[in-house]
Amino acid sequence: MERLHGIKACVFDAYGTLFDVHAPVRRLAAEIGARADDISRLWRQKQLEYTWLRSLMGVHADFWHVTSDALDYALEQHGVSEPGLKDELMALYLKLDAYPEVVDALEAVKAKSKLTAILSNGSPSMLDSMVRHAGLERHFNFVLSVEDVGIYKPSRRVYRHAMHKLQMQDAASVCFVSANCWDAQAAAQFGFQSVRVDRFGLKDDRIPGRPAAYIPDLSGLAALL
Ligand code: LAC
Repeated sequence: MERLHGIKACVFDAYGTLFDVHAPVRRLAAEIGARADDISRLWRQKQLEYTWLRSLMGVHADFWHVTSDALDYALEQHGVSEPGLKDELMALYLKLDAYPEVVDALEAVKAKSKLTAILSNGSPSMLDSMVRHAGLERHFNFVLSVEDVGIYKPSRRVYRHAMHKLQMQDAASVCFVSANCWDAQAAAQFGFQSVRVDRFGLKDDRIPGRPAAYIPDLSGLAALL
């Protein structure tokens, strides 16, 4: 396996990488019915599109707002209007399940004396709630939100913000970990040593930036460091 060299800190994406964004719809699948998987996928896709669109438009709104708008779109597109369902799904979004290997993987990274951080589109209160619910507080030195920058990933300003907060002089000393292809690739293009967690069997996007390594889940991360 290719090892990464000179890494001082591991910076993790949150949604899809540490936390399962499809858990809320799965939890209420019996209520939602056959359209559940399509709704969950459309919710996520629109959520990301709205972050990119708002960033280009220069009209920022926080991730809670964007996530709510995207869910409204997905439910309406699929003709779902059960009273209370939207509020239930949004409440579950604050308590997403962490993937099962996350705690052990973070402990293995810590055992190699690396700093650990989350760098996420999530608003501070969303991240705080999710990290606490999963009992991950003590595993991270920093939990960083794009709200401190006012623009979404993959703006270079966001990746630069992490370097600044972690007091890293050299981007190559940061291992950036994401299961989102575009995020892993943009972080690599920025200069981080990027690791893509290939949870979904996806090809790289046709954009600049290539991850230094690919792992099927986070359990293989510490061995790279
Ligand atoms: C995040 C999204 C991109 O956590 O997954 O920033």
